[in-house]
Amino acid sequence: AAETRFEAENAVLSRGVVESNHAGFTGTGFVNYDNASGSYVEFTITNDTAQAVPLSFRYANGTTTNRPLDVAVNGTSAGTINFAGTGAWTSWRAQTISVQLPQGTSKIRASATTSNGGPNLDSLTV
Ligand code: GCU
Ligand code: CA
Repeated sequence: AAETRFEAENAVLSRGVVESNHAGFTGTGFVNYDNASGSYVEFTITNDTAQAVPLSFRYANGTTTNRPLDVAVNGTSAGTINFAGTGAWTSWRAQTISVQLPQGTSKIRASATTSNGGPNLDSLTV
């Protein structure tokens, strides 16, 4: 199926801000998570049929410390993704997790699990 990219700057944020001071993002910016556990970005996506789908998160992490995110689908955790350092805040990479999606609309919430917060998040591609 065709892939759709959802920009983090258009998602719902809790304790995060949209910024554009590190080059290489798509769209108009990225989300800088507050450096706090529980800060999140929540995407609303629509899926044609119930199925397992890869979710690809594009991010940058200019530190050398992993910034894991818990990924929840409609309120239920589907697992944690590790976001290792990318070498610079301007170096962007993707990490993918496969999740089961129901037919129709789903809320995909990516929440920081440590006091470092999340990586800078550019987009989710489904
Ligand atoms: C720096 C960087 C931010 C990043 C932050 C962090 O301040 O400019 O984009 O989010 O570090 O460590 O989370
Ligand atoms: Ca941050």
